[in-house]
Amino acid sequence: MALKRKYYSGNDFRRTNSIEELRQFARRQVPNFALEYVEGGSESERTLRWNSEALDSIRLVPNTLVDTSSRHQRTTLFDQEINSPLIIAPTGLNGMLSHRGDIALARAAAKLGIPFSLSTLSNVSLEDVAKEAAGRLWMQLYVMSDRELTRNIIARADKANYEALVFTSDANIFGHREWDQRNYRQPAKLSLRNMFDVARHPRWIFDVLIPNGVPRFENIIDFMPPEAQTAQGGVAFVPKLFDAKISWDDVAWLREIWPRKLIIKGILNGADAKRAAELGCDGIVVSNHGGRQLDSAVAPIEVLPEIVEAVGNKTTIIIDSGFRRGTDIIKAIALGADAVMIGRPTLYGLAAGGEAGVSHALSILTSEIDRVLGQTGCRILKDVGPHLLA
Ligand SMILES: Cc1cc2nc3c(=O)[nH]c(=O)nc-3n(C[C@H](O)[C@H](O)[C@H](O)COP(=O)(O)O)c2cc1C
Repeated sequence: MALKRKYYSGNDFRRTNSIEELRQFARRQVPNFALEYVEGGSESERTLRWNSEALDSIRLVPNTLVDTSSRHQRTTLFDQEINSPLIIAPTGLNGMLSHRGDIALARAAAKLGIPFSLSTLSNVSLEDVAKEAAGRLWMQLYVMSDRELTRNIIARADKANYEALVFTSDANIFGHREWDQRNYRQPAKLSLRNMFDVARHPRWIFDVLIPNGVPRFENIIDFMPPEAQTAQGGVAFVPKLFDAKISWDDVAWLREIWPRKLIIKGILNGADAKRAAELGCDGIVVSNHGGRQLDSAVAPIEVLPEIVEAVGNKTTIIIDSGFRRGTDIIKAIALGADAVMIGRPTLYGLAAGGEAGVSHALSILTSEIDRVLGQTGCRILKDVGPHLLA
């Protein structure tokens, strides 16, 4: 008989025990349209569901009676130590969840000692994030139809000393997120029902709307025509920036002009992984964009073994999409990933409690990783391997 799951109804995010409880808490803090933007996937959301089902279907075989009293989860990523095998994934429009949300995420990542990736579509400029948050910063890049704008972002990220450029390859065509559109009468014009819902969230109005109005896309604002600089105009304008022409030639071009670490995000097969490594990429992110792009795409965890076999000793392998538990993260490490990117879990934290909420989300994940290490008989991440998988 299935256990009855209790809905989390507490009023302090610090008391949530899991990412799922934090998600339930976050749902009550921000208007429905803002959380639906975060939660959903494209079309029938098959890939969104499959990401977690594929992780659920893997079982662990622990080793017993191993002394794990001195365990830790530190590891090395691009020759520098990180305190946990996690990276905060790039996500656009973080300012809808919390005022200057990009900075809150970056600071929480720095506090834990892990990298933070800033989206091209952030609401705080890449310069301000670099000024206001210490730590390891990665810049996510959409290679856009306006190549002048693309060059501009790269040059600014270089000047601001970002450690890595993360080129997102799976957004050549904007994913169709139908649920998102239902919240609007016209692009960025909320339906009446959603406007009432906003009015029911005064804390959010004071945190997000009052300080600066609807958040703008600060990294690209100078390149947007005046009519696109309003909230409505911006949301309608952004999909036009995506470029169906992007190709491996762009990877070669980026490798020529970007001096530091280059990472391709959106790889889902061994042949593409090989090509990225051959073109001199330092890392790849095995990702289906959290189920927000191609619906019916494979789950990254399914194709990870093929990719590790193709390029495991040639490039750094990061994975994302659907990771919600320490067990999920250990499964990816066991299959050969170097680290895991986290998207929605830290956004739930951001919606729940700003920077402190993000830190709470990260602490849930790191405590779970710590527990799983101990319970599987592993002292360090190097002890985790395929022998743990059923
Ligand atoms: C609200 C939201 C916005 C996102 N925006 C971007 C983005 O601007 N650039 C990008 O490369 N990926 C973006 N992604 C995808 C994430 O980087 C990441 O691949 C995905 O969230 C991982 O799946 P998870 O949310 O299940 O952890 C976004 C994801 C979400 C949920």
